[in-house]
Amino acid sequence: MKFHSSILVLSSGLLSQSSLALSKDPPLPPWYPLKPWEITKLHAYNPRDAPYGTNATSLEITIANPSLIPAGPAPHASGGGYVAFASSTANCVVHWKEDDQTPYGYTKATCDSKTNDATQSEWNITIQEIQDNPAHYISLSFSLAYRLHVYGSDFYKSMTGSLFAQVGENLEGGCNDEGFCEYNLKNGSEPLLIQPTLFECKYACG
Ligand SMILES: *[C@@H]1O[C@H](CO)[C@@H](O)[C@H](O)[C@H]1NC(C)=O
Ligand SMILES: *[C@@H]1O[C@H](CO)[C@@H](O)[C@H](O)[C@H]1NC(C)=O
Ligand SMILES: *[C@@H]1O[C@H](CO)[C@@H](O)[C@H](O)[C@H]1NC(C)=O
Repeated sequence: MKFHSSILVLSSGLLSQSSLALSKDPPLPPWYPLKPWEITKLHAYNPRDAPYGTNATSLEITIANPSLIPAGPAPHASGGGYVAFASSTANCVVHWKEDDQTPYGYTKATCDSKTNDATQSEWNITIQEIQDNPAHYISLSFSLAYRLHVYGSDFYKSMTGSLFAQVGENLEGGCNDEGFCEYNLKNGSEPLLIQPTLFECKYACG
């Protein structure tokens, strides 16, 4: 019971503001709208020419959900508010290979993540495509699952989001004469924003 004091509870007053503004529409679900995730670091390198092995490649990403997300009702909280999942930051390090079986470096991995309370977060990253020729782009997708056991309930939500990053827009880098390619976030473009959508939900689903 002693960790209850560290659980964040949102007052229902704050959450109902947006539904007041749209009083003719049905009440908005309490988790709505989900706010963007932020990518503050992206560094990738790989040989230009396939096939190549996992040891020759690396993709490092820091992604965060900086916002509180309602997990479910907190019946005993003053004001009858919502328990909230904490913000969460993940560091993803992915090594991939490219060959006939894994075109475009397709790889799925789980990232190291942390929150600052009893909320548990799990972040997965999927490399959809890493292209060096002729255009240089990186297509990724992410999923985030939140779990919190409190007030006798197992609160759960999962979300997905995707990123398309391209040299000349939000990425900088390319391939050098030695046949090695390297990419970073374009200076000044961070954080890159990713709009998540709700995927699975238990409690406060709207
Ligand atoms: C990758 O590197 C590790 C450690 O340096 C080595 O043990 C392993 O054999 C390498 N794998 C490949 C596919 O080259
Ligand atoms: C992450 O991937 C693992 C293994 O495939 C899966 O069990 C888990 O449900 C995934 N989590 C999320 C948040 O997608
Ligand atoms: C990024 O841009 C800022 C301001 O334009 C500059 O001061 C800084 O040196 C740049 N960093 C790199 C790594 O180029």
